[in-house]
Amino acid sequence: MVIVYESKTGFTKRYAEMLAKKTGLNFFGVKELSKVNRDEEIIFLGWMKVGKIQGLDKLRKYNVKAVCASGTGRTAEPNTDTVIMRNKIESIPFFYLRGGCFPLKEIKGMDKIMLIMFVNMLKSRKEKDEKLEEAISIIENGFDGVNEENLTPILEWIATR
Ligand SMILES: Cc1cc2nc3c(=O)[nH]c(=O)nc-3n(C[C@H](O)[C@H](O)[C@H](O)COP(=O)(O)O)c2cc1C
Repeated sequence: MVIVYESKTGFTKRYAEMLAKKTGLNFFGVKELSKVNRDEEIIFLGWMKVGKIQGLDKLRKYNVKAVCASGTGRTAEPNTDTVIMRNKIESIPFFYLRGGCFPLKEIKGMDKIMLIMFVNMLKSRKEKDEKLEEAISIIENGFDGVNEENLTPILEWIATR
C-alpha cells in the first residue's frame, strides 16, 4: 500500500507526509504516479475545489482503496454524502481532513477570482451564523487546520487492513 496526494498550497501534502511517517508507507505526488504500480493499493489524499477532489480523476485506473479530502470547513462541505456522490467514490471509504488556506491577498490567478466570488456570495446571505462568519474569516485572513489528530480515523481504518 502507498499514499498518493495532490496538493496546491501544501496543506494536503503535510497530511500525506504525516501519514507516511506514522504508517511507514511510501508517498508520491500525483505527478509521480508513473512510479506506482497499477495494482498497488492506494490511499489517496487531495484538496477540494468547489466540492471536487483534485487529482482523483487521474487515478481512476488505479487501485484506490480509500480517499481523503482536505478543505477549510469544520466538516466536508456541503456535506459528506454530496462530496462522496460528486466525486463518485460511493464504493470506497472516505475521510475528511481539515486543511487550510493562505490569506486571500496572497492568492493569485483564477483561484483568487473564484474565492472572491465565493466570499461575496457568503457575505450576501441574510442569515449569518457563527459557521458562516468563520468561513468568511478563513478565506479573508487565512487559516491552518492541519492537525495530527485529524488522521485518527484513517489510521484506524489502515489498522484494520
Ligand atoms: C478556488 C478554491 C476553491 C475551494 N473550494 C473548496 C470547497 O469546495 N470546499 C472546501 O472545503 N474547501 C475548498 N477550498 C479550500 C481548499 O480545499 C483547502 O484550502 C485545502 O486544504 C488546500 O489544500 P492544499 O494546500 O493541499 O492545496 C477551495 C480553495 C480554493 C483556492
